[in-house]
Amino acid sequence: MSLSVMSAGPFRKPLHMRAPPVPQGRRHTLPASEFRSLSPEDAISVFEIEREAFISVSGECPLHLDEVRHFLSLCPELSLGWFEEGRLVAFIIGSLWDQERLTEDALTLHKPHGTTVHIHVLAVHRTFRQQGKGSILMWRYLQYLRCLPFVRRAVLMCEDFLVPFYQKSGFKVQGPSQITVGPLTFIEMMHPVRGHAFMRRNSGC
Ligand SMILES: CC(C)(COP(=O)(O)OP(=O)(O)OC[C@H]1O[C@@H](n2cnc3c(N)ncnc32)[C@H](O)[C@@H]1OP(=O)(O)O)[C@@H](O)C(=O)NCCC(=O)NCCS
Repeated sequence: MSLSVMSAGPFRKPLHMRAPPVPQGRRHTLPASEFRSLSPEDAISVFEIEREAFISVSGECPLHLDEVRHFLSLCPELSLGWFEEGRLVAFIIGSLWDQERLTEDALTLHKPHGTTVHIHVLAVHRTFRQQGKGSILMWRYLQYLRCLPFVRRAVLMCEDFLVPFYQKSGFKVQGPSQITVGPLTFIEMMHPVRGHAFMRRNSGC
């Protein structure tokens, strides 16, 4: 039996019972996993994660909503978000700094000619923690920084208990930070970023 005869037989649905055609060129599902820079439009989602991760714990957070918007407007290319089916599950926000160590000014300023990336915050949504996402996001971020020719190092400050976490990502302890927030004290940590031309050529930048 030829195919054309079979397809015209009794098993073929009449036209009015067939599923409507799917329009071409339109996506109906969001990507399972996506990494991209954040924009000011993502600030609310960022702050929701911060609220749960920090404010509910200590009453403080690394960046308030207006500061999130500030840095995502000034230097969105120094942020990285991890989205699952369109929902933000983890993020990093950074800006540039131009001194050896972090000072109070580093909390609010972006120094466009600096060669140090100050990582203000890394946070993972509560329901996605302890799955390796924080470490993976940091790894991807550091890989990305290697592609930026002007970046020499990444620095951050964290509480004592997170020092081992950042050490696993290759950060080295610089010493106690001169910055305090209320009763909170911090350790400053640094990761060299040797984004020289050879590495950039060979790392898919
Ligand atoms: C810290 C944080 C970013 C880690 O992300 P994560 O995806 O949960 O971490 P991973 O799954 O990649 O790694 C797990 C490791 O992180 C460390 N870690 C995570 N949370 C920790 C905590 N509260 N105390 C101590 N170590 C912690 C541990 O070393 C852990 O390894 P272990 O389970 O073998 O002990 C995440 O827990 C978070 O967002 N916390 C709230 C916000 C925060 O404190 N951010 C960092 C300061 S800017």
